[in-house]
Amino acid sequence: MAATVSVEDREKVIQACIEAKKYSYSPYSKFAVGAAFLAEDGQLIKGANIENASYGGTICAERTGIVKAVSEGVTRFRALAVVTNVPSSISPCGMCRQVLREFCANDMPIYLVPGDYPRPLKENERPEDGFIEGGVRLTNLGELLPDSFGPEQLELPRRQ
Ligand code: THU
Repeated sequence: MAATVSVEDREKVIQACIEAKKYSYSPYSKFAVGAAFLAEDGQLIKGANIENASYGGTICAERTGIVKAVSEGVTRFRALAVVTNVPSSISPCGMCRQVLREFCANDMPIYLVPGDYPRPLKENERPEDGFIEGGVRLTNLGELLPDSFGPEQLELPRRQ
């Protein structure tokens, strides 16, 4: 079970992903993405999407962030937040989901932050199912990548 994330920590990781988006290098798609990981020890690690003139060389914000962290010895995470420059909440691509699966628990909170965060609630309005304050969609890898393949499968004994 993932430890619960306090409202303060949630706001920190959300603000960090908004900060990360500033360094998006996305001249081709003009789709800027920022991601931030809250590590188990409280560190915040940021990443942005980095595009390439040879389009296939593009690296998504989520993978930029996780590769930065892991390559510095940070491998355990409590939360991830992702934001883009479109108003709605955008969900990580398939390749990023699989890369996250390597290091993040299935129940680790993933905050999909709308580009116009914080979206105010009208009087007496409650967040829709799956959403929390500010118009953030709260999800996790168990939902985004069900029935997934991960490191545990590679621990199974092999037949010759
Ligand atoms: N992108 C991300 O950074 N994360 C995702 O999960 C989806 C897509 C980036 C890649 C590319 O730079 C741009 O968004 C358009 O695909």
